[in-house]
Amino acid sequence: MMRRAALLALRTISSSTNVALMPLIASCKPLESSGTSSSSWKSFATNSTDIFNTHRDLPHNNASTPFEVSEANMKRINEIIARYPPNYKASAVIPVLDLVQQMNGGWLSLSAMNKVAQILDMQEIRVYEVASFYSMFNRTKIGKYHVMVCGTTPCRLNGAEKIEEALSSHLGIHLGETTSDGMFTLGEMECMGACVNAPMIAIADYTKGVEGFSYIYYEDLSPTDAINIIDTIKKGGKPKPGSQHRSKAEPAGAMISGTWVPSTGMTTLMGPLPGPQCRDLDKI
Ligand code: FES
Repeated sequence: MMRRAALLALRTISSSTNVALMPLIASCKPLESSGTSSSSWKSFATNSTDIFNTHRDLPHNNASTPFEVSEANMKRINEIIARYPPNYKASAVIPVLDLVQQMNGGWLSLSAMNKVAQILDMQEIRVYEVASFYSMFNRTKIGKYHVMVCGTTPCRLNGAEKIEEALSSHLGIHLGETTSDGMFTLGEMECMGACVNAPMIAIADYTKGVEGFSYIYYEDLSPTDAINIIDTIKKGGKPKPGSQHRSKAEPAGAMISGTWVPSTGMTTLMGPLPGPQCRDLDKI
């Protein structure tokens, strides 16, 4: 956490001082993302540790990097644009960037953002502002699978830190880094709305383009469950989505200190729940 706080503190400092900060940054031990860059510049691959949203030209990420939108994807983009009034085309920028990110293997290159600006008749800087503000957009190349551990209070209190440690040690990478085979990037997200089944992770699958893109939640996780999910994906399998220990969010038990403890009955601290267990919607 201390390291993360230090990284975030550095984010507030002007980008013009970044060169002077390199020794400090190096002490935070970020690694190259995906092994794709021959540059010595350290790349933070994922949202929560992406301290450099300022663009720096790299051989695989500059204004001349080819980026084309296929006919099928242009049709999808036009469908999105049609949801907004013709004089508010720019309102489509977030869903269009999301689609373009799926087309581009999970990240937004400079040329991909420029293409979006061109399609939506926006100034390029306006697109950069959106892409660098929202954590759902990755500004550097990531792995085929983006594994995001929920880092917000309910998940943290219920063992997310242990899951992060287990995944980090199993994959051999730290938060914000990508495995050397380019398969997995380990990231962190804030609350993903599945707190009732905390702790949880989400995995974005960028292996099959827009057509096969998926963003799946895995909930009620022990560290072992999280590792099993990664291993299943590695073997080409499909891990069980949602809760790993119950059907949905019924009171069947809880993850306690990394172990699933089945419920012994519907109780409160004072005794059995009086019920009714479901709201009678006819009486509301
Ligand atoms: S805190 Fe993790 S899903 Fe809400």
